[in-house]
Amino acid sequence: MRTDTGQVFHLEDYKPTDFLIPETHLDFRLHPERTIVKSTLKIERREGVALDTPLILDGDELKLESICIDGVALGDNTYVVTPDRLEIRGLPEAETFTLEITTEINPTANRQLTGLYRSSNVYCTQCEAEGFRRITYYLDRPDLLSVYTVRVEAETSAAPLLLSNGNPGEKGTLDDGRHFAIWHDPHPKPAYLFALVAGDLGVITDTFTTASGRPVNLGIYVEHGKESRALYAMDALKRSMAWDEEKFGREYDLDVFNIVAVSDFNMGAMENKGLNVFNDKYVLAEPDTATDVDYAGIEAVIAHEYFHNWTGNRITCRDWFQLCLKEGLTVYRDHEFSADMRSRAVKRIAEVKGLKAHQFPEDAGPLAHPVRPRQFREINNFYTSTVYEKGSEVVRMIRTILGAETFRKGMDLYFERHDGDAATIEDFIKVFEDASGEDLSQFALWYDQAGTPNLAITYDYDQATKTFEIEIEQSLKPTPGQPSKKPMHIPIQFGLLGTKGREIRPRATKGGLVKDDVIHLRKRKERFTFSGITERPVPSLLRGFSAPVTMTSELTRSDLAFLARNDRDEVTRWQALTQLLNSKLTSNSKRVRGGKPATIESSSIRLLGELAFNNALDEAFRALCLNVPSESDIARELGANIDPEAILGSRDALILAVAEAHGEKFEQLYNELEHHGAFNPDAAGAGRRSLRNVLLDYLSVADGNPKRASKQFKQANNMTERAAALNVLVQRFGTSTATNDALQAFEARYGNDALVMDKWFVVQAMQPGESALGKVNELMKHQLFSLDNPNRTRSLIGAFSSGNQTGFNRADGKGYQFFAETILTIDKKNAQLAARLLTAMRSWRSFEPERREHAREALASIASVAGLSTDVRDIVERTLA
Ligand code: BES
Ligand code: ZN
Repeated sequence: MRTDTGQVFHLEDYKPTDFLIPETHLDFRLHPERTIVKSTLKIERREGVALDTPLILDGDELKLESICIDGVALGDNTYVVTPDRLEIRGLPEAETFTLEITTEINPTANRQLTGLYRSSNVYCTQCEAEGFRRITYYLDRPDLLSVYTVRVEAETSAAPLLLSNGNPGEKGTLDDGRHFAIWHDPHPKPAYLFALVAGDLGVITDTFTTASGRPVNLGIYVEHGKESRALYAMDALKRSMAWDEEKFGREYDLDVFNIVAVSDFNMGAMENKGLNVFNDKYVLAEPDTATDVDYAGIEAVIAHEYFHNWTGNRITCRDWFQLCLKEGLTVYRDHEFSADMRSRAVKRIAEVKGLKAHQFPEDAGPLAHPVRPRQFREINNFYTSTVYEKGSEVVRMIRTILGAETFRKGMDLYFERHDGDAATIEDFIKVFEDASGEDLSQFALWYDQAGTPNLAITYDYDQATKTFEIEIEQSLKPTPGQPSKKPMHIPIQFGLLGTKGREIRPRATKGGLVKDDVIHLRKRKERFTFSGITERPVPSLLRGFSAPVTMTSELTRSDLAFLARNDRDEVTRWQALTQLLNSKLTSNSKRVRGGKPATIESSSIRLLGELAFNNALDEAFRALCLNVPSESDIARELGANIDPEAILGSRDALILAVAEAHGEKFEQLYNELEHHGAFNPDAAGAGRRSLRNVLLDYLSVADGNPKRASKQFKQANNMTERAAALNVLVQRFGTSTATNDALQAFEARYGNDALVMDKWFVVQAMQPGESALGKVNELMKHQLFSLDNPNRTRSLIGAFSSGNQTGFNRADGKGYQFFAETILTIDKKNAQLAARLLTAMRSWRSFEPERREHAREALASIASVAGLSTDVRDIVERTLA
């Protein structure tokens, strides 16, 4: 584990390396505890670099065995070695020379899950961001590209499968029960994209022929016996490959593409060149074990990692400050892919919900940082929702501003100009400037200024002159290190609605720039005047959620209801409905506990019913409407002085009122939506199930007993309906026999299936109220629980801390105390995981004073510990700052 040195890295300090490594040869003798890595590097001194300049290589927990240059062992006084650094002086004068380094590492003892480690006896690697240095001493930075040849050798019986990046080469058996394979990757790559996998795994294979006729062998490697669960992932992979050709003109560039699923993985998946390594959660799916959400996740993650082949691998990042160059862009690409595979509007609403639930709070709290940060202590802590999701929104805004066609031209230029480069955000912006002839310097502030802009909007209609005026004022609050901000270029997609929702086309516009259906807000305060408007319109702003902003507008409740009923843009319809519900939910949540909530307006209840029963609408969309704002959504809207118990009460009161008003029709719809045919994970099937499952919750609340959920639990022929029923049982009838019976039945049936049991831990970690903590403590002692497995840890500790509002944020602070202790335990095993989990406390300052003080104490108790990892030290100190 790296402990904190207090070192901060700055974007301004970027300097290219003094040496290049055009060729890298790696030779692995795999052994569970003593793996020998021999690295042979062709080193080239850059022109102009002084001959006495030392070569300084990165390392992390390494043990050096031997070191030679051009075949001659180095004398002790020519190099200085520590576990995390190798400095070589007295290099040959020749421009190029060969450096040979042998290190020994212990993959079994590696619980950080970066570098080379073992997961269920499979050797695998995870090198992004700085894990390669845990394998051998190297220039471990993304701008150092090298052509890799890798020889892997292992005991044949333990590891019949030997994989690395690129194309397969020679292989053979050795006489001591061992064998080897050689892999060559012709594409120069940074060390973070290196991968090796060795073990005994099952496989499914397929082929894909690229547009230019290159046949590609596809393989997905999984635990023996789980091969059939990889078929959906394979299908998603082939669809991704075809889509990238069609939508971005990008073809695959090797003879093979392999994916390996492992059960111990810190993240979702990793885009290593030609050899993606996946958390098995994002590969394995069968109707009986995976939910619709799991299927959609697999499709998205498979696509994401595949798309990195061009956005990330062929064009990589100059330094880690540019992380959004590959991640934000690739998220944008996977979002578009999923939108094309499923319902675009429903996908977009899901993205908006995700952005608001994760990125907005990050941007509003102590961990706020720009999409392209300018400094960091620990890069692992910057794989954030801001870099990813806001990074994707920034790319989307470029397309909105330039139009789809010019955007595509810019992307083509990016691939053409920068193929093989380690690029920067400036390079990315420049291709769009060159493709469009526009100046994007103001727009580029989106990469630099942290925080979510707010738009304060006022309207004015003048009947006499038939003009409609929209005045917009943007503001952006200070964030850590950025006390004052400049106005940004914000694209606001819009429409004006007349009677019956008819779209009104303005004759002309004056004031700020309006192009087609986009208002371009560029000043702090700007006015847009539309003429030829014969009736007072209802403005529909931010269609498609065209910019990641919040809005305060003077629309009346009846305007909002009108938009929810009539706008042609489903994102706006959903937003308008959400705003209507939120205003009631938040005002009710401010009442002291035990106080009587304000009555829920009958008009909102009627509106919800209309949307729910409207057969012309997508079932998935109707389900999104019925899924009223969550407890954390309401908390975020409140922003300060949060009392989670009051929020839960307010939300439940709304659900009960809706359920009572529509009970009979809900029941009828619930019954109609029952499906008897085979399970299909497509968007239509998933939509129908999501609508039926939200109805189950309403009906169960109205029934006041668990019968219906029990019945669905027992009769379900797929995991989506089974897990939803279990969720209703635990959430609504936590202590009933029906709930306990279901939990027991689930455990008996799936006890051997780790991914399914993760769901069992999640659902219990989320049980509302004070009793959750006891339950979590009890589950930590369960024989299937282990803090060594990230998925299991996230399913209990992660779900409890980030998903259970009332259980975690107990008024007595016991939830925080437990969490702090657990984080310290996890930090010793897996620092990256500990730091990620700890971000659950980033919004601690928005709670009411009692909870806030308990949260501060818990955070301080972590901060006071000596020997924290750099990862946790960085998060805890920024959170408290
Ligand atoms: N490159 C990342 C994986 C990664 C992140 C490795 C952080 C090391 C440190 C990969 O492309 C990625 O972004 N994965 C996401 C899923 C994706 C669909 C957004 C993940 O793992 O969560
Ligand atoms: Zn990624």
